[in-house]
Amino acid sequence: MKRIGVLTSGGDTPGMNCAIRAVFKTGVALGMQVMGIYHGYKGLIEGKVDYLTHEDVENKMHKGGTVLRTARSQEFKTEEGVKKAISVLKAYGIEGLVVIGGDGSFRGCMELVKAGIPAIGIPGTIDNDMGYTDFTIGFDTAVNNVTNEIYKIRDTMRAHDRVGVIEVMGRNCGDIALWAGIGGAADLILVPEMPMQWDEAANKLAQNKLRGKLTSIVMIAEGAGKAEDFAAYVREHTDVEIKATVLGYIQRGGNPSAFDRVLAARLGERAVELLAEGKGGRAVGIRHNTIYDVSLAEAIEVKDEFDYKLYELNEMMAKF
Ligand code: F6P
Repeated sequence: MKRIGVLTSGGDTPGMNCAIRAVFKTGVALGMQVMGIYHGYKGLIEGKVDYLTHEDVENKMHKGGTVLRTARSQEFKTEEGVKKAISVLKAYGIEGLVVIGGDGSFRGCMELVKAGIPAIGIPGTIDNDMGYTDFTIGFDTAVNNVTNEIYKIRDTMRAHDRVGVIEVMGRNCGDIALWAGIGGAADLILVPEMPMQWDEAANKLAQNKLRGKLTSIVMIAEGAGKAEDFAAYVREHTDVEIKATVLGYIQRGGNPSAFDRVLAARLGERAVELLAEGKGGRAVGIRHNTIYDVSLAEAIEVKDEFDYKLYELNEMMAKF
């Protein structure tokens, strides 16, 4: 394989730039030309393709976002869109493609594979919702971002003897809420994988107050409901004073953690090696600290396992 392409797709994640850099460097090391495709599948359809150079990836790995930009493309979900994308790849002589993104991006990648384009998926999403890999690029940074914010919110909640409920991203996955909750010593974690009735949750906060614990931090994953709605419920049913914060995009930006940088480098390298070995239709991931690969179909199908032990650990610690 002489020329490969790389694109980022879906929600950006800190660490995507490190993965792009690793793809570029590995490609160069293996004697390939590496082309950057800008604005994800949307840009691919529109022919936004250019050679990547050392300048494109130099001094970028510590930055969040993606130098290749990203997008969520509706057109690529159509047969016509996929056809256009393939004709652009052919026109540029791109023989293999690396796609950095979440499960939606992997589905797109599979369409290209079906059409005969060797393509490899690298898991990049802050949500950590891809079951075939222990970690996705960006998750660790998002957890660190959230943990840092929890302590700021706790300071002001404590000053007023209030409860703070903090809503975090993750779509249908509670991992950000769970890990940041443990890292930030949350008193209660509400996640879609462990549905808890709000009356039970409100009751716990009321009990905390009765036993003299006036400040509690509640983490709520967006898949489990809205922080504002939960706060309104607690106000209506208890005498607990509660304030809601939605962290939003600050959890998705900023410098990638060292863990995410290293993960991205390892996954990026393996993705290009697979293309060089003539293996398309694979997704790279990490299991027990070992980089491995599975078929894209399997990567999409494997159900994400929630870490109930970790959840119980928090429950136990919050009791005392
Ligand atoms: O998938 C990543 C993610 O940040 C989710 O956690 C969140 O629900 C969604 O993307 C937000 O999407 P957008 O960037 O389109 O607002």
